[in-house]
Amino acid sequence: MAFLEDWIPMGNDELGHADMKLDVLNFTSRTDVQTSTSWGAPIIWDGMFIPEAYEQIHRTAHTSVALTVFAVGKYLDVYLKDLLVSSQIYFMVGIPVTYYVFTDVPEKVPAIYLAPGREVKVMPVKHHSRWQDISMMRMMFIRDAIDSQIQHHHQYVFCMDVDQVFRGHFGTEVLADSVALLHAHYYFRSRKEFTYDRNPKSLAYMADTQGDFYYHASVFGGSWQSVRKITDTCYRTIMGDKENGVEALWQDESHLNKYFWEHKPSKVLSPEYCWDTNIRFRTDIHIQRLIWQEKHYKELRNKEN
Ligand code: GAL
Repeated sequence: MAFLEDWIPMGNDELGHADMKLDVLNFTSRTDVQTSTSWGAPIIWDGMFIPEAYEQIHRTAHTSVALTVFAVGKYLDVYLKDLLVSSQIYFMVGIPVTYYVFTDVPEKVPAIYLAPGREVKVMPVKHHSRWQDISMMRMMFIRDAIDSQIQHHHQYVFCMDVDQVFRGHFGTEVLADSVALLHAHYYFRSRKEFTYDRNPKSLAYMADTQGDFYYHASVFGGSWQSVRKITDTCYRTIMGDKENGVEALWQDESHLNKYFWEHKPSKVLSPEYCWDTNIRFRTDIHIQRLIWQEKHYKELRNKEN
């Protein structure tokens, strides 16, 4: 059991983000994993923080969070309800959250019980026949929603895939200026195995000598200002590729990885924050906060969606 004195209050981080001043993290509580990056950003693992301390800070600061999620075609039927319902119990408990649900079938958004201070905003989007396009265009839709709505109501934005479900605490400890997630399949691998885009014609291209971590696009976030920059830049590089007839290996995820190589995230989330239960036991994973749902790619990624 750590005493409060053991918890080291951080100063302004190297990147000068004011929000880091409030952080209380114990970097030495975990000796089995890397708890900070080479540029000084914390990597958040179970045991490094006291959830209540963060909650208190953010309640006092009247922090409000926007969670964006794309539920297009059958993805809405299969996944949306589980994500929304489970988030009432685990996601940013005690803090106001607005869910921005982007969908081509607004009438199908399920009516669910929402905890106090929570609301769902349905954002109609046009259907794209290729799932790759849906995935890439979300960068544009998120940017536009930040401009039209989010910036007026929320300090922070988190962007999540719909095919996942909360299973454990996922709270205000994740909030920071820009936040990236370690991919569950790659955090224990070497850089040469990372699935960055390797096509020099793509704007997402990364050379063998580049890259810090392989980040998963299923969760990213930060202040609205940072998420606006992330989504705007990725949208532009994706469109640049389209004009050249190129598509990056993992679409928006490749572009996001390139972005975070060039603009280091100020906080990194361990794979506890999006775990694939198909990866069996690993001693470093003490808690599964959000887990992948079964993908059903064959049924979901056909043209009729
Ligand atoms: C897979 C995942 C994809 C993508 C890929 C990158 O496990 O399902 O969405 O992230 O890894 O290699």
